[in-house]
Amino acid sequence: MAGNITFTMIKPDAVEANNIGPILNMINKAGFKIVAMKYMKLSGAQAGQFYAVHKERPFYGELTEYMSNGPIVAAVLSKDNAVADYRKLIGATDPSKAEEGTIRKTFAKSIAANAVHGSDSDENAEIEANFFFSQLERF
Ligand code: CMP
Repeated sequence: MAGNITFTMIKPDAVEANNIGPILNMINKAGFKIVAMKYMKLSGAQAGQFYAVHKERPFYGELTEYMSNGPIVAAVLSKDNAVADYRKLIGATDPSKAEEGTIRKTFAKSIAANAVHGSDSDENAEIEANFFFSQLERF
C-alpha cells in the first residue's frame, strides 16, 4: 500500500461553514476511497505536535491555536498516486493562488483558514495517518 495513501483534515473553518459534505463529495468524485475517518477536536498540544515541523515558522502559534479552536474531520484517503493527486485536488496553500475547481479555491477563506490539509509526501502521509489512527481504525 506504500505510496497509495494520503492524510487529510477538514479544518475548523470548513466544518463551521457546513462544508464537510461537499468536501467529502469532491474527494469521492476525484476517485479517493476513505479508509479511515473521525470527527474530533484537537487540544492545543495535539495541534502543536501535529504541526511540529512548522515550529520555527512565524505562523506556528496562529496555526496551532486556529486548529484547536473547533472540531475537525481527520481522514486517510487511498488512491494510486494519492499524495500528488490530492494536492492537485486541494490547490495551493494560499487560496487566492489556488486553481479554479480546487477544494481551497471553492471553500477556503484565507491562508490560515484554508479548508483542508493534505500530506506533502508519502513518508509524512504515514506519519500523519499514524498520529490519528491505529491500524484497527484503517480499512
Ligand atoms: P497545511 O496544508 O495544513 O500545512 C501547514 C499550514 O500552515 C498550512 O496548511 C496553512 O494553513 C498554514 N500556513 C502556511 N503559511 C501560513 C502563513 N503565512 N500564515 C498563516 N498560516 C500559514
